[in-house]
Amino acid sequence: LELFVPLDRTRPLRAQLEAALCAAITGGGAPPGTRLPASRVLAEALGVSRGVVSEAYAQIAAEGWIEVRHGAAPVVRTELKGTVPLSSARGAERPGGACGEDKGLSWRVDLRATAPDLSAFPRKAWAAAVRRVLAEVPDAALDYGDARGDARLREELAAYLVRVRGAGPGELVITSGYTQGLWLTCRALAGRGVRRVAVEDPSLDDAWATIRSAGLEVVGVPVDEDGIVPAAIDADAVLVTPAHQFPTGAVLAPERRRELLAWGGIVIEDDYDGEYRYDRAPVGTLQRLAPDRVVYLGTASKTLAPALRLGWVLAPPELAAAIAQERWAVDSGPPALTARAYAHLIAGGELDRHLRRTRREYRARRDALVAAIDRELPGCSVDGVAAGLHLRLRLPRGADERRIVDALAAQRIGVRGLGSYALEHPQPPGLIIGYGRLPTAAVDGAVAAIRDAL
Ligand SMILES: Cc1ncc(COP(=O)(O)O)c(C=O)c1O
Repeated sequence: LELFVPLDRTRPLRAQLEAALCAAITGGGAPPGTRLPASRVLAEALGVSRGVVSEAYAQIAAEGWIEVRHGAAPVVRTELKGTVPLSSARGAERPGGACGEDKGLSWRVDLRATAPDLSAFPRKAWAAAVRRVLAEVPDAALDYGDARGDARLREELAAYLVRVRGAGPGELVITSGYTQGLWLTCRALAGRGVRRVAVEDPSLDDAWATIRSAGLEVVGVPVDEDGIVPAAIDADAVLVTPAHQFPTGAVLAPERRRELLAWGGIVIEDDYDGEYRYDRAPVGTLQRLAPDRVVYLGTASKTLAPALRLGWVLAPPELAAAIAQERWAVDSGPPALTARAYAHLIAGGELDRHLRRTRREYRARRDALVAAIDRELPGCSVDGVAAGLHLRLRLPRGADERRIVDALAAQRIGVRGLGSYALEHPQPPGLIIGYGRLPTAAVDGAVAAIRDAL
């Protein structure tokens, strides 16, 4: 255990050491149960006599902070749990933090649309991939790397995107999730004179914040059953979710796709859940149709887990180089070890197997959810059910969306209303229901709760 003990050699050392140890304990740096260094070890590390450390330990033991047993390392008393003001940094783990939406830790039923099933994470396959990476990478691979990310992953991913998503030619840059990919793209576009980015309205509000944080202006463009209305775009670039519009679930209609590609600006394609489609023909990427003007963004957040913070940008080479340059400026490139592990998952077929398994499970959940809604909510209808991990529930005209969301939240059922994703254009009442974390057995209970709230 490393301890921060600044010692002023002109003052009594024991008192300083006692104060530093107490500060570590009360500040949360050495929480209850922590084993402190043996007195000999700490004395050596601090360059003080062993007696000074032993006396300091004895003093704070007498005050009740630690437990000292003969022949064993001192331990911070577990009885202190809850009685000392532990680190405020822990607040970040609490639900409802300052950033983003409620992290969902407190939901009894989590119906949020952005939430994949974390219990499906292929832990064994991931662990095996990480072990393999550690066994095989040369020391040189532990150095700073290419700003575009690990070459092996880019190679595997390029083939994967062509095979699974019908991607076209372009240059890949590995990013920290879709979110960073969007931010870096916006920075690179800002350097090329882009000032204003249009977004679908409604759409993911986090993305508006990302675009603004990159210094660009955000404007909304209406969305209907056929997706975004390209004729209404008044911007230099546009961010779209063509395969499964977030949050309405609309698929961008063929005529609209043509219109969008005929429009002169840069198109940023968010393919956040492109791997999950159930009973419709695959919708190819826009990027394939216009690789010189479409920047494609993908993520492992829906297929594996958001915690990996793994995403990618497929862009025209010159723009990709600018994006990589931005990445280098931010943090000198992406982590290579995670990237390599993901490359193994693709190469070994584990990712495909995982997708087949989860697709089956999500489809069963969706079927159960749609059937329960049909049965229990006669005044409502659903949209956007052919793909993804969420659907849109249209509420009866005049329903008070906000009150329904609040009533459900009071029962610790987490769901967002359609209106909460609206930027400028008001929306009819609706709920955006995610089934990523809704086991089939819990569907009836969740729908009954919505019926009661209605
Ligand atoms: C519309 C949309 N795009 C992208 C993402 C993925 O973001 P990230 O890869 O940064 O986790 C999400 C996740 O919630 C999303 O809802």
